[in-house]
Amino acid sequence: MDKSAPTRVLGIETSCDETAAAVVDASGRVLSDVVHSQVDLHALYGGVVPEIAARDHASAIVPVVREALARAGIGLGAIDAIAVTARPGLAGALLVGVQHAKGLAWASGKPLVAVDHLFGHLMAVYLTREGEPARGRPAFPFVALLASGGHTAIYRVDAQGDSSVRELGATRDDAAGEAFDKAGKLLGLGYPGGPRIDKLAALGDAKRSTFQFVSPMAHGPSLEMSFSGLKSALSRHVEQTGKPEGQALSDVCAAFQAAVVKTLVKKTVRAAQQVGVRHVVVGGGVAANRGLRAGFEAACAKAGLEVFVPPVASCTDNAAMIAYAGAIGFDAGSRAAMDLAPATKTLFPSVTRKGGGRRPSPAAR
Ligand code: KG4
Ligand code: ZN
Repeated sequence: MDKSAPTRVLGIETSCDETAAAVVDASGRVLSDVVHSQVDLHALYGGVVPEIAARDHASAIVPVVREALARAGIGLGAIDAIAVTARPGLAGALLVGVQHAKGLAWASGKPLVAVDHLFGHLMAVYLTREGEPARGRPAFPFVALLASGGHTAIYRVDAQGDSSVRELGATRDDAAGEAFDKAGKLLGLGYPGGPRIDKLAALGDAKRSTFQFVSPMAHGPSLEMSFSGLKSALSRHVEQTGKPEGQALSDVCAAFQAAVVKTLVKKTVRAAQQVGVRHVVVGGGVAANRGLRAGFEAACAKAGLEVFVPPVASCTDNAAMIAYAGAIGFDAGSRAAMDLAPATKTLFPSVTRKGGGRRPSPAAR
């Protein structure tokens, strides 16, 4: 091994419906980033089917990892550590990546590092890719919104390392991406709904929409969120008036997106103000949304905050963020043993009551 070379980590990600592998160095420079998407397989069913996900990971994992090493131009011997998503996610899907990483670590004698997928999303903002313009890097402490298909939460990140992450508030029910996907299904847009609603919303006008959505829990100091009501409201609207088409469809998409964006932006800006930080990070698949990006730019500029949103390839599921999160863990001495098993829940402690439960007093909302 070349001792003068920076630490290089192979990352493996199979928590949901992307089989991904990447090689990243300790500074966050992406040497390769391979993503095999299963989206076409799941589109037939309108959502991710866990059994199908696990089977497709099993057939894709070896070629995807080989491709990541080949594109980085290095063999496994030049890798310093193998990082793998061990939680949270679909158990069968995670198992494929974890077992593959264990096999590689066992055969090569390289250290294995277990990564929490959510920590990967939070660290994606530090990745740098060849050819992209230089971007600023957020300084600790910062507040981060993580909005994906499976999770939506606001975190406070005090320092490097997953033990420095605290949840400030999360959705009580659906994740923001899940809300986009369910809305897409109701509107007949297929799966995943998020990118399709984003595209149509750009052609629509929220004010002209035949249905006006109320941004859920947008007012009051609470940092908890709720998105399932939007889906129910849209479902009732479609039942009563039929599926909108043409311009009316674009207008409804614009109104739906605006309602989700308003809640996400307001809560995150509020969190930054409550905590007293100036830097705001946005991550997860929903951060690819153009309305959300524009909403954050405008609101943060107004509030005197600086917002950092990674490029789309770093927002949606990828293994580069897992490799980089693994490099941080590796540097801090984190090592997983050969009895590593996947877990479906994140390591981050939750402060939000899932399902809502008894609501706080109206003043607190
Ligand atoms: O982070 P991600 O790739 O996977 C999970 O960890 O869940 O996020 C996928 C989610 C899906 O719900 C998808 O609809 C949503 O991110 N998404 C978007 C956009 N691109 C992806 N939602 C809104 N607008 C987009 N442009
Ligand atoms: Zn994700």
